[in-house]
Amino acid sequence: MIPGLGVDVVEVARIRLLVSRRGERFLARVFTAGERSTAGEGPLMAQRLAGRFAAKEAVFKALGLGMGELSWQDVEIRGGRGMPPQVYLRGAAATVARREGVWLAVSISHTREHAAAVAVAHRGEG
Ligand SMILES: CC(C)(COP(=O)(O)OP(=O)(O)OC[C@H]1O[C@@H](n2cnc3c(N)ncnc32)[C@H](O)[C@@H]1OP(=O)(O)O)[C@@H](O)C(=O)NCCC(=O)NCCS
Repeated sequence: MIPGLGVDVVEVARIRLLVSRRGERFLARVFTAGERSTAGEGPLMAQRLAGRFAAKEAVFKALGLGMGELSWQDVEIRGGRGMPPQVYLRGAAATVARREGVWLAVSISHTREHAAAVAVAHRGEG
């Protein structure tokens, strides 16, 4: 049985550093085009990316998957920015969710320093 619950906290400065040092290589590996577009630009971009990064890790934990088993792009966080964030799965993450018959829900929060997310795998309507 999968854990069903996952949480993660990310330092916004770590994401800012990765964006400034690795730029496109980091962004393209971790975030989908939709996530990058929703994160926007400007001073809040790193906070929003950090929130989405934390949400992906929280989903991995809820599904009981390790980083060796999947790609960052397998978990896409859509919505947010005044709307509830929603989880779309591909690849290994989608396979596990289908096998277990679960949908994933996430909640994200961020401050200037930290972003946090919690994920729940639930049965029933997505
Ligand atoms: C949800 C809400 C309480 C967030 O409160 P907050 O303390 O300011 O912000 P937090 O850092 O804790 O959370 C922000 C994240 O909550 C999520 N969120 C935003 N609106 C949400 C909602 N209606 N329901 C659930 N989650 C929501 C988003 O993922 C957001 O991060 P993002 O902007 O990077 O996508 C606040 O945004 C709210 O009242 N929203 C209601 C809808 C609204 O006001 N819309 C305005 C349109 S711009």
